[in-house]
Amino acid sequence: MKAAVRRSYGAPDVVRIEEVPAPTPGATQVLVRVHASAVTAADARIRAADFPRGYALIARLLFGLRRPRQPILGGVASGVVEAVGARVEGFEVGDVVSGTTGLGLGCHAELAVLSAKKLVHKPAEVSHEQAAGVLFGGPTALHFLRDVAHVQPGQTVLVNGASGAVGTNAVQLAKHLGAEVTAVTSAANAVLLKQLGADRVVDYALTPAADLTERFDVVLDNVGNLGRDDGRRLLARDGVLVLVVADLGETLRAHGNVKAGPAPERAESFGTLLDLVADGTLTVVNQHVLDLADIVQAHEVVDSGRKVGNIIVRP
Ligand SMILES: NC(=O)c1ccc[n+]([C@@H]2O[C@H](COP(=O)([O-])OP(=O)(O)OC[C@H]3O[C@@H](n4cnc5c(N)ncnc54)[C@H](OP(=O)(O)O)[C@@H]3O)[C@@H](O)[C@H]2O)c1
Repeated sequence: MKAAVRRSYGAPDVVRIEEVPAPTPGATQVLVRVHASAVTAADARIRAADFPRGYALIARLLFGLRRPRQPILGGVASGVVEAVGARVEGFEVGDVVSGTTGLGLGCHAELAVLSAKKLVHKPAEVSHEQAAGVLFGGPTALHFLRDVAHVQPGQTVLVNGASGAVGTNAVQLAKHLGAEVTAVTSAANAVLLKQLGADRVVDYALTPAADLTERFDVVLDNVGNLGRDDGRRLLARDGVLVLVVADLGETLRAHGNVKAGPAPERAESFGTLLDLVADGTLTVVNQHVLDLADIVQAHEVVDSGRKVGNIIVRP
């Protein structure tokens, strides 16, 4: 099969299209012919071995000390079931599915192996490109807003870094949960954020998030430039600060009303998000849909730090 492969850590051009053996599903896994995958901030971090401060050694132990253990990046896939493991229930060859491999990666390829636990049937109203787009930032935003910060109707939510994969979902999900949303973004993305439902858009070139004088019930930092002290200063009484990006020290010190850490990948969340896309509640913002052959370009867009929503590749 064709796959986007990298044998070392480095810049986008370490990734090349190669012919490699197809993976074989284990007993609880499903082999999926990938129709769409996303190139995410996580892929770019792992590709470049560029991890938040304090995480470098842990991440290298996980992903390969000197060179990548898993040469194929990609944690999200939407496609069609090609084979199922002996102990898989609920999925059959030919089913149209979407899911994640998380840290197992391997989705930037014609075929990928996914755990049946992290797979759902894709609603017919949702395209493969939309499914691949929503399943990285969507579960993160849903977890932190709904399950961690417990956003309630009428609360105020600040989304810092509102135009990326996490941010575009966070703005819409916070609105869906009944909140009043302030989105911090560049001027170029102000119209998009209004269209996605933000009540107010702040241009960070004019007013950095840390300089805002208002107070919010929930502050979600997707950029990593707020930190614990600035973030807490923006909180209303009993407010919650969520550091979606945090270094190891901040993660270890996150307690009480400061939250950090990895968002879990749950099939239940995937189902919820795909249903919200299917019924038109959630718009998936895909900046580019590219062929897998354009994988280097896809990584370059992510590395620019200016990605709008998601970058999709089609093997
Ligand atoms: N904790 C977790 O489980 C978890 C899960 C997913 C992601 N993450 C992390 O969360 C971060 C965000 O992920 P993502 O996928 O949303 O990233 P992304 O899509 O690459 O976000 C890029 C966006 O950040 C915006 N941005 C850059 N500088 C900004 C600033 N100073 N103020 C406001 N916005 C700014 C850019 O908007 P403009 O062009 O408008 O500047 C761009 O649209 C990444 O570091 C990722 O590793 C953590």
